Amino acid sequence: MDLPTTVRIYEVGPRDGLQNEATAVPTDAKLEFIRLLAEAGLKEIEATSFVSPKAVPQLADADGLLPRLPQVDGVRYPVLVPNERGLSRAEAAGATAIAVFTGATDAFTLRNIGMTVQGSLDVFAPVLATARARGWWTRAYVSTAFGCPFTGRVDPERVVDVTMRLAELGAEEICLGDTIGVGVPKQVHELTAAVLAAGLPLDRLAYHFHDTRGTALANVVAGLQDGVSCFDSSTGGTGGCPYAPGAAGNLATEDLVYLLDGLGIEHGVRLDGVLAAARFISHVLSRRLATKVGQAGGWDAATGQPLLAAGPPPSAAGSGR
Ligand code: HMG
Ligand code: MG
Repeated sequence: MDLPTTVRIYEVGPRDGLQNEATAVPTDAKLEFIRLLAEAGLKEIEATSFVSPKAVPQLADADGLLPRLPQVDGVRYPVLVPNERGLSRAEAAGATAIAVFTGATDAFTLRNIGMTVQGSLDVFAPVLATARARGWWTRAYVSTAFGCPFTGRVDPERVVDVTMRLAELGAEEICLGDTIGVGVPKQVHELTAAVLAAGLPLDRLAYHFHDTRGTALANVVAGLQDGVSCFDSSTGGTGGCPYAPGAAGNLATEDLVYLLDGLGIEHGVRLDGVLAAARFISHVLSRRLATKVGQAGGWDAATGQPLLAAGPPPSAAGSGR
């Protein structure tokens, strides 16, 4: 199959990227990070989670953060919601796009959200119904789609089963997560083929790769070869689930943008803007980020001139606020 000509980059840096950080990130710094991401051209920015603040203290400021997000034409800010309580909080804060999240195994899902997979589907049914009745955009994650930190390899049929049940509950997009970064391209092809054979339309499928073992970009190429056109990534390559031992950073947005630019696939995101946002969050977290393009730089897509990764972080005062 020909590669897609256009791809959606779904940015998870402010949510997945920050949820597992040891350093507390002030709300103002999160807002500036998100402003820089929108300025770089990202149109879908997963902003935060309305989960228990005890479960994820880093995102405990969700209620205060959401109403202060920069309103930019065409930019959507999905938020993670685990239950009806989270939905009410999200609605009160002004959300119009949500993502529910479960897993392919009970072992992980019980640790992550205190429910079995079946229990989570029962909880999500009214959450998704309400969100759709409000006209909101909806996504559902299936974590541990390639492997579970507690039970090992995951049978694709299990992933297909959870995927199709979420699709039947009305989630517009189903995102398959390699939570602990164990997948390889052959598995991506197998999983894509299995969910498509079960009846999921290609344009409702997205992939979320963690780069724990360095296979994330190879997995994106496999997804592209299958015709998938939405991929998650995190600017600066931060990320990891606190309830999945061994989970490391997400695929970095700068690495994904570099790949897509080189392949001539449209995505609407400027590499220099992403690098600026990565420098900013690296400065806030007081550590050097481990992304390839973040260290080596890349090319400006329009001019072909080198873009250096190094440089001072953008001023926290920003522009255009
Ligand atoms: P629980 O303890 O099992 O259940 O938590 P509970 O209903 O008994 O609630 C416990 C306490 O949380 C109670 O408060 C509730 O009121 C409160 P207490 O009585 O102890 O004071 N509570 C809430 N508070 C605020 N907002 C809420 C909410 N719900 C209950 N929405 C629960 C169950 C789901 C809440 C908890 O386990 C939780 O919040 N888990 C979130 C875990 C999480 O965010 N993990 C990371 C995201 S998933 C991920 O990273 C993977 C992904 O990136 C894809 C991939 O990589 O594969 C998406
Ligand atoms: Mg993740």
